[in-house]
Amino acid sequence: MKPIRKAILPVAGFGTRFLPATKAQPKEMLPIFDTPAIEHIVREAVAAGIEDIIIVTGRGKRAIEDHFDANFELEHALFEKKKMKELEIVQGLSDMANFVYVRQPQPLGDGHALLCAQSLVEEDEAVVVLFGDDIVDNEGGPNAVQQLIEVYEKTGDSVVLLEKVPDERVDQYGIVDYAKVDKHHGVVSRFVEKPALEDAPSNLGVIGKYILTPNIWHKLKTTSPGPDGEVRLANAFADHLADNGKIYGRILEGQRFDTGDKIGFLKATLHFALKQETDAAKATIKEFISKQ
Ligand code: G1P
Repeated sequence: MKPIRKAILPVAGFGTRFLPATKAQPKEMLPIFDTPAIEHIVREAVAAGIEDIIIVTGRGKRAIEDHFDANFELEHALFEKKKMKELEIVQGLSDMANFVYVRQPQPLGDGHALLCAQSLVEEDEAVVVLFGDDIVDNEGGPNAVQQLIEVYEKTGDSVVLLEKVPDERVDQYGIVDYAKVDKHHGVVSRFVEKPALEDAPSNLGVIGKYILTPNIWHKLKTTSPGPDGEVRLANAFADHLADNGKIYGRILEGQRFDTGDKIGFLKATLHFALKQETDAAKATIKEFISKQ
């Protein structure tokens, strides 16, 4: 089995939930404390051995390319001012991985975004797919992409990352029917996208981090677009299962933040602020919140 070396990040969405903040800047560049959301995701992939980061962008997303590029003027200015720590941070961003950008000309769904990147993937190659909203912190343990790769290495099949979601949020996620194999992974037998609570096969929700094996590309091409005209990865998974294809699930270890949601975004910001700051700053933040 070839090791997984590529990750595709579909990030062409408008980020309408965060308007007006996202009118003139990509949602993925909004900072989670001091680090853009997309950088958290790229770092997670790189730490798991991913070498090629394929970002599917769209109009208005150029700040992402600049973020992961060299910036001669800034680097020169930091050097002149002897700000070596900052210089290291800036330079580290451009040589973290090979960055490749593909444009999705129209917002036709996450499945369509993936198809825009298909020609960059070998026919026998499995890839990691990471949506821009889900940020996971598993301090001291394997990160979310490493957790997915562990299951892929055991099974050779596609893998989705799973987490129990509360009843009131079941209709916001892909929900699966799941049979445990061991403590951490199991077999997915049904995938229902955003079901009503009464139709949900379980409370296990899909996090936007996946491993796709080559057979899923065929399903992406043939799956029918939804009533909104969008081609969705969730439908390709459902079609794959309907044709007796295999998908495994990995129960997430770690804390997950859905930064596509304003409260989730705020929680992630607070989490990383509290994690990185000094005890004195932490106490100030906590005191401030307790007084609101
Ligand atoms: C997408 C997927 C859904 C998944 C979710 C995770 O939905 O379609 O299956 O549970 O990401 O964040 P979206 O949030 O793009 O509507």
